[in-house]
Amino acid sequence: MVDFTLTDEQKNLRELAHDFAEKEIRPVAWEYDKDGTWPQEIVDKAHEVGLMNTHLPEEYGGAGLSYLDGCLIEEELAWGCSGIQTSLGANGLAAAPVLIGAAEEVKKEYCSELVESPVLASFCLTEPDAGSDVSGMRTSAVRQGDRYVLNGSKCFITNGGYADWFTVYAKTDKEAGHRGISAFLVRKDDTVVVDKKEDKMGQRASNTATITFNDTEVDSRYLLGEENHGFKLAMMTLDRTRPGVAAMAVGIARAAFEFAVDYSKERVQFGVPIAMHQAIQFMIADMATDIEASRLLTWKSAVQLDNGERNTLLSSHAKRFAGDSAMRVTTDAVQVYGGYGFIKEYPVEKLMRDAKIMQLYEGTAQIQRLVIARETLLPRRVSEPEPAPA
Ligand code: CAA
Repeated sequence: MVDFTLTDEQKNLRELAHDFAEKEIRPVAWEYDKDGTWPQEIVDKAHEVGLMNTHLPEEYGGAGLSYLDGCLIEEELAWGCSGIQTSLGANGLAAAPVLIGAAEEVKKEYCSELVESPVLASFCLTEPDAGSDVSGMRTSAVRQGDRYVLNGSKCFITNGGYADWFTVYAKTDKEAGHRGISAFLVRKDDTVVVDKKEDKMGQRASNTATITFNDTEVDSRYLLGEENHGFKLAMMTLDRTRPGVAAMAVGIARAAFEFAVDYSKERVQFGVPIAMHQAIQFMIADMATDIEASRLLTWKSAVQLDNGERNTLLSSHAKRFAGDSAMRVTTDAVQVYGGYGFIKEYPVEKLMRDAKIMQLYEGTAQIQRLVIARETLLPRRVSEPEPAPA
C-alpha cells in the first residue's frame, strides 16, 4: 500500500529541524550570505542537537536515521538557508563511501569521530578538468609497499577549508579510464593544502575550496573498497546523496514560495492585492505544483534506498526535477516581487542565487538527464546486491 503519512517520530524530527532552521539559521542567513561568513557556531549547535551525521548507523554511535528521515530534515534546514545546510550535510557525502567500502575498524574510527564532536569531512571527486567526466581525473595514487602516495588537486570541495579528513578519488591505473580509479580516506596533514576559497554567486555561507595533495601518504588500510573500483563507489555514493540534494531544492523552493505568497497578498496594484490578479495566481499555482511534485519524487527516491533497492534512476529524476523546479520557483518569486525582487533588501534574490547550484552540484541537470536516458533506454543490470542503507 502506498501511504504518504509520516510517523509521529518523523513529524517530531521535522519539527525539530524546522525549529532549528527558524531560530538558529533564518535570523542570520541573509547576513551570512552577504559576507560569506562561515557558520561555525551553527555547525556546533546542529551537532549538539543531533541534526548532523543523521545517517551514521547506531553501531558507530550515529542516529541511524533512514534516508526519508534525512530528507525531512534537509528540506527544513535548507528552508532556513541552503548554504548553511550544505555545510551541515556535507559529512553525509564524505561518509557514504566509507560506510560502503571501508573495513569495519576504519568505519568505527572515522564515524565515531564525527559523532563525538563537530568534525567535518569532505568528498573530493571533482578536478579542474574532470567535472561531469569523472574518469578524466588526473590525481594519482601510487602504491609504495603498504602505502599509497597521492598527488593532485581537487576543486569545488564543500567544507574543504574546514575538513579534518577527506574521501579522495585518484587514479591507480592511468590507462584504465573509469576502471583505474580508487578511493581513499585521507586525514588532513601538512601535505594537504587548502589552496583557494571560492567567492560564489549563491550558498555563500558554505565553504568551497581547492585542495591539493602533495606526496600525501595513505596507509593501504584506508583504501575504500577494492583498488580500481573507486568509480562505482562514487556513483553509489551519489545515488545515496542525490535525494538529500533534491530535498534541499524543495526547501529553497518552499521558502521562496512562502515569501511570494505573503508578498502577493500585501502588494496592491490596480486597487487590489496582486494575489487577486490571475497572472499572479497562475504563477503561484505552478510554483505550488512544482514543490509538491518535487517532494514526492524526493521521498520516493529516498524510500527506494530505505527498502534496500538501487535508486539510480529515481535519484536522478528527483535531483533533476527538484533542482530545475527550485530554479523556476525562485525566479518566479522574484517576478512576483517585481522590481523589488531584484533588490538585496528583499529576501527572494538570495534564494534565486542559492537555487542555481541545485542544477550544478552532485551532477548537473544535464548529467541527471543523461543518467535518466541511459537507465530508461538501457536499464543497467547490476549483479552485485546493493548494500543495506547506511
Ligand atoms: N551505481 C553503481 N555502478 C554504476 C553506477 C551506479 N549508479 N553508475 C555507473 N556505474 C558503473 C557502470 O555499471 C559501469 O560499470 P563497468 O565498469 O562494469 O562497465 C561504470 O560504472 C561506468 O559507468 P558509465 O559507463 O555510465 O560511466 P560514464 O563515464 O559514462 O559516466 C556519468 C557516467 C553519469 C556521466 C558519471 O560520470 C557522473 O555521474 N558524472 C557526474 C559526476 C558528479 O555528479 N559530480 C559531482 C561531484 S560531487 C559534488 O558536487 C560535491 C560537492 O561538494 C557539492
